[in-house]
Amino acid sequence: MSERFETHEHDVLVIGAGGAGLRAAIEALGQGASVGVVSKSLLGKAHTVMAEGGIAAAMANVDSADGWKPHFRDTMRGGKLLNNWRMAQLHAQEAPERVKELEQWGALFDRTEDGRILQRAFGGHTFRRLCHVGDRTGLEMIRTLQDRGVYMGFDVYMECTIVRLLTDGGRCAGALAYWRETGRFVVFKAKSVVMATGGIGKAWPITSNSWEYTGDGMALAYEAGAELMDMEFVQFHPTGMVWPPGVQGILVTEAVRGEGGILRNKSGERFMERYDPKRMELSTRDVVARSIYTEVKEGRGTEHGGAYLDISHQPAEYVKKKLPSMYHQFKELADVDITKGPMEVGPTCHYMMGGIRVEAETAQSSLPGLFAAGEAAAGLHGANRLGGNSLSDLLVFGRRAGLAAAQHAKEVSAPNLDEGQISAGESEALSAFQRQGGENPYAVHRDLQKVMQSLVGIFRTGEDMQKALSELAKLKERAAHTSVEGSRMFNPGWHMAIELKSMLTVSEAVTRSALVRQESRGAHSRIDFPELSPEWGKKNNIVWHDGSAMGLRQETRPEMRAELKEILAEDQ
Ligand code: FUM
Repeated sequence: MSERFETHEHDVLVIGAGGAGLRAAIEALGQGASVGVVSKSLLGKAHTVMAEGGIAAAMANVDSADGWKPHFRDTMRGGKLLNNWRMAQLHAQEAPERVKELEQWGALFDRTEDGRILQRAFGGHTFRRLCHVGDRTGLEMIRTLQDRGVYMGFDVYMECTIVRLLTDGGRCAGALAYWRETGRFVVFKAKSVVMATGGIGKAWPITSNSWEYTGDGMALAYEAGAELMDMEFVQFHPTGMVWPPGVQGILVTEAVRGEGGILRNKSGERFMERYDPKRMELSTRDVVARSIYTEVKEGRGTEHGGAYLDISHQPAEYVKKKLPSMYHQFKELADVDITKGPMEVGPTCHYMMGGIRVEAETAQSSLPGLFAAGEAAAGLHGANRLGGNSLSDLLVFGRRAGLAAAQHAKEVSAPNLDEGQISAGESEALSAFQRQGGENPYAVHRDLQKVMQSLVGIFRTGEDMQKALSELAKLKERAAHTSVEGSRMFNPGWHMAIELKSMLTVSEAVTRSALVRQESRGAHSRIDFPELSPEWGKKNNIVWHDGSAMGLRQETRPEMRAELKEILAEDQ
């Protein structure tokens, strides 16, 4: 390989150091693979920590009637039956084992009186199913996985951004990256690559996601030839902070409602009675987000354009014990004591159900040698994810991806790297430096967020999305003419110029997919097509790179196995 680049070689390269990436790395290491973990950010700083309220796993510690079958049924029903049913089955069956394993590795969970892992209620889950650590479950999970991985000995490359996947004769062969600190390029050569880069929240202005979540993994996989699936399904978590403006979008965990929190409009009405009288605040996220949005739109919102969420009827000590982060978050950021009065909350872009298309058993994408897990992958959650299923997803499918990636690495020879691909990737990444007097990439990002929020948000219409597509085309053109100044050493403008390309790719995939799906299902709500369509219920949207443009086609979903159909039909 060229002398121009620092090069590292691994059997398995994991891109992304959140829960899915770490779990994949641990599994691959356990199989004897040499593993490198690349993080655009710092180890442990991942959206996983935003899954605060718990891990969904049918341990039946609190409600003895729970089991994998009810969990499977809830997941499928919550996903409006668009889920990959085999993934939903594996997830429900394997989640309890993955939680026990996490406990053996040192995770400290809240406990029942008799010392078992405590479980709480969450939206769309029939039983109290979420294993938790107060409202810091994701953080505890990351801490545990990180300790385990470092102890087992993976190599970590932090503050390192991947700009291109490398291929060799139709298989994934590694990646080209740069160090954010120095701007120097680095090449990773690998027999298997696991994509675990999380979601795309930064394409919207109001989001629980932090700066890292720009859809890089999905865009990189797409550019390299892998297919994306069901990109129209973007989850707006019902409860983000709405005030003050600087903290808008920060997550208010569903655990507040799980612990008895009540939603009211400005007149004090418990409005969920009108939208889902049976499940009320513990309805699924798509329903609660739409309900809050509608209350605000119809003039019944709070002073700052949200709804009230009140947990102050619970004893103050209980609230502080069960929701310590929420207590501090509101006290410090909004000067609100949640043990005494309500919070103001509103929907925030939180999670991507769509993503890289994978096989259920192996997490293998349609590009040989490329695997994907966690939020970067599609399938498990269908049209809407249930809260808490993200953490169990990344444990179950992170493990499966790591296992299959290590296995694949044993079966194939070392790939060859193509100098031409590396040079092309390098030139493209540096192109914003070559241009003079172009627009600032941040200005284009701001306008992209406006387009996605106003035209491809919670409620959608064909007319809006047609408009969004033409706006996206203009933004693409503007992005191609941005320029950055200064050196390559920690240059945020340059980083944004690179991330913009990913955000534009995934935004286009979301919009194109949402436009063709002429029905409302889960998180995808069409004002012009308000009903579920039986025909669309049989189809997944597949997006791929057809050489020059974005290809989109529909594929008929495989028929569900008879025994699973029976489970689904059972009443509970
Ligand atoms: O509300 C929450 O605690 C988020 C959980 C999740 O997204 O799974």
